[in-house]
Amino acid sequence: MDKGTFYITTPIYYPSDKLHIGHTYCTVATDAMARYKRMRGYDVMFLTGTDEHGMKIEERAKAAGITPKQFVDEIICGKNGILDLWKLMNISYDRFIRTTDDYHVKSIQKIFKTLYDKGDIYKSVYKGRYCTPCESFWTDSQLNDGNCPDCGRTVKYAEEEAYFFRQSKYADKIMQLISSYLEPTSRVNEMVNNFLKPGLEDICVSRTTFKWGIPVDFDPDHVVYVWVDALSNYITALGYGNEKYNDFDKYWPCDVHFIGKEIVRLHSILWPAMLMALDLPLPKKVYGHGWLLFDGDKMSKSKGNVKDPIVLAERYGVDALRFFLLREFTFGSDGNFSNEALISRINTDLANDLGNLVSRTVAMIEKYFDGTLPAEMQDDPEDGGLIEMAQNLHGVFETQMEKYAFQSALSEIFKVTSRANKYIDETAPWILAKDDSNKPRLAAVLYNLIETIRICTVLLQPFMPDTCTKIFDQIGADNTLQNYDSATTYGIMPKTVTVSKGEIIFPRLDLAKELEALETVS
Ligand code: MSP
Repeated sequence: MDKGTFYITTPIYYPSDKLHIGHTYCTVATDAMARYKRMRGYDVMFLTGTDEHGMKIEERAKAAGITPKQFVDEIICGKNGILDLWKLMNISYDRFIRTTDDYHVKSIQKIFKTLYDKGDIYKSVYKGRYCTPCESFWTDSQLNDGNCPDCGRTVKYAEEEAYFFRQSKYADKIMQLISSYLEPTSRVNEMVNNFLKPGLEDICVSRTTFKWGIPVDFDPDHVVYVWVDALSNYITALGYGNEKYNDFDKYWPCDVHFIGKEIVRLHSILWPAMLMALDLPLPKKVYGHGWLLFDGDKMSKSKGNVKDPIVLAERYGVDALRFFLLREFTFGSDGNFSNEALISRINTDLANDLGNLVSRTVAMIEKYFDGTLPAEMQDDPEDGGLIEMAQNLHGVFETQMEKYAFQSALSEIFKVTSRANKYIDETAPWILAKDDSNKPRLAAVLYNLIETIRICTVLLQPFMPDTCTKIFDQIGADNTLQNYDSATTYGIMPKTVTVSKGEIIFPRLDLAKELEALETVS
């Protein structure tokens, strides 16, 4: 059934280094949400891409002795580059935008000109502290003990001609609206107290100190400030200002931009102001998620604490890593990443809880019924608790997913798998199996387990797509028993289901051994 459209985006990533687990976090969350909405029947547009301009990339390319385009091409399209990473992680994006794409460049020039003609972009003089070696202007609050925050050297007062965007004009409207589109609420308070209440200034939106950017076509000494270029990707990728695509009317306004907390200001203040200036509707939601920290610190190459998602996914499986990222951390808050947390989570939830439930259930049906359950079954009031939980799961899961509360949604599923494992202990099928007269009762117990596993697996698909396919194969659930709506009805699995034992889906890991191994590989 057609539920309408759902447009969801990740930030577009800087191809200045290989992406790490922190970047993977946001993309995996977006992917899970996109898959979930598709399952619900929405026409989904999932956009991701790369943000390729700016001084940093220009410098990195220069140091490597290649052009900026060659530099970014390698990081994006090269071996183990961004495209390879998203393929490995099973990221089901519908569109990938590169800000160096011709259509985007032309659209940005048009957007810049439109805002200039309207008077919302004007030429003035940028005054501030300038670091000559870094070729960067800094505001007083950005300085580090009065010195350049990047290189630590002294800065001097300087002036430079630049274009400015009249952000201040939209301050009142943003103040009125911000709580309607920004989540979680804590981020609204931050924006209001730190930026909106003190008063919004106009923002410098062109640079003349480097070349690797989109030229302002009517004043080519200037390149467009990278954030105007980057934020606009969300509309140019739908065909705004270009002929390459034509689904802007279909998908805009965006349903949700998922972004990390440090870019909330740009997405919840500058971006809405730009959209207002262009007379376009605002995104319905901007969700600022937390950071993955490492020993309480932000992951960064210079700190040497970067975790490589490729190493982890190859060692533990893509689905285990995807699952861990969304099960372990609360999406709206910071969380501490550790190898120990990863391995423990795989062991407790995936090997012991879900994996064990599937393998025990399938093994018992094979052992006691040669793989096919009989039609004759005997229910018992003791089944009620499990059946009720499985029946209600769809509703509680959906409530959490609609709030982007991935962790809680998964936790609801795992309450049911734990309950099912407990039900095995309570009903003790191995004792029932001792007496042939108990066969109908034994069959009912195993049926309840299979049906519970099926419902949990339907809902786990956005998180672990490949694993769910394997589980469906083992429990004999055909396509009609895998769709989202099928999880609303308990008992639709045919009574005489045939299972087939497969490989162990999540083998138990030896924590000490893994921690030692990870020291050397990551
Ligand atoms: N290019 C800009 C985004 C432009 S969107 C119009 C950018 N790129 S980035 O590559 O530096 O970061 C992309 C995203 O990754 C950001 O949302 C950022 O918050 C997220 N993360 C980077 N490190 C992270 C963690 N350690 N943890 C969680 N997310 C992190 O910003």
